[in-house]
Amino acid sequence: MKITKAIIPAAGLGTRVLPASKSVPKEMLNIVDKPAIQYIVEEAVAAGITDILIITNRGKGIIEDHFDHSFELEAKLEGNPSKAEIYESVKHCSNLANIYFIRQKETKGLGHAVCCARSFVGNEPFAVMYGDDVIISEDPVVGQLCRAYEKYGVGTVGVKEVPRKDVPKYCTLDVTPLDNNVMAVHNIIEKPSPEEILSCYSILGRVVLPPEIFDLIEQTPPDPKSGEVYLTDAMCALAKEGKLTAVDFNGIRYDMGNKLGIMKANCEVALTHKEIGEDFKEYLKELVKSF
Ligand code: UTP
Repeated sequence: MKITKAIIPAAGLGTRVLPASKSVPKEMLNIVDKPAIQYIVEEAVAAGITDILIITNRGKGIIEDHFDHSFELEAKLEGNPSKAEIYESVKHCSNLANIYFIRQKETKGLGHAVCCARSFVGNEPFAVMYGDDVIISEDPVVGQLCRAYEKYGVGTVGVKEVPRKDVPKYCTLDVTPLDNNVMAVHNIIEKPSPEEILSCYSILGRVVLPPEIFDLIEQTPPDPKSGEVYLTDAMCALAKEGKLTAVDFNGIRYDMGNKLGIMKANCEVALTHKEIGEDFKEYLKELVKSF
């Protein structure tokens, strides 16, 4: 079955990038000249996804504005030959896909946020694209996962090996090889202690799930420490039934939820940017000489 729906949870508090994220959602922090969430929507569209639900909360209305028309701005730019490219880039934001919004009324974790999408998703498989993970790839990563879902007929998670010292910040997966970069997942532990590490594979930003995940999330108790409902716990239930694969995806992932990730994303994307790439490279070369 072709996957045409994606949800982008963007209702977190973004505490790791405060005060930048106090009034600007972290999903709207820019990478050179576009907000992070636009890269994610463009990745979805490039993979053939047509309907996207963005999960927001209070104070994140500017995400809706970004994907809407801006009539005053467009009227000002239209017809000005020197601004033609900018005009097209502004209009492009409002024509990307069918974009819907819903609010997660309380910040109760990623699992709870995903449940807000239940009626949008209905009885179809769907992609979850974490709103603060930008992944740059020729072959859109969400498309790589959709192909694995279509091939194996079970949920799939996008993974990468991370340094062992960082695994406790993410999650750890027990996996066995299936085919090329695809593995069967048998167990997942969210934020493991160093002794609990099963492998250095962690889930980074993209998953494709069957609709049965909603019942599993509803049966998942909140974490006693944080009070959040972890999506990972519900995906672990799928794994234990033999219904989950992992794709070691091709792509470079930037964590826009932390300061270093934001700087790496801006630096690396700027280096390949058609307007400023060459100048920025020269600037960096000079700058590093002084360190
Ligand atoms: P994170 O755990 O990275 O987001 O969730 P956070 O809670 O904003 O981060 P910190 O720790 O406070 O800095 C990953 C994605 O899930 C969304 C976030 O917006 C982010 O895009 N999320 C998280 C929700 O939509 N709702 C939640 O309740 C939690």
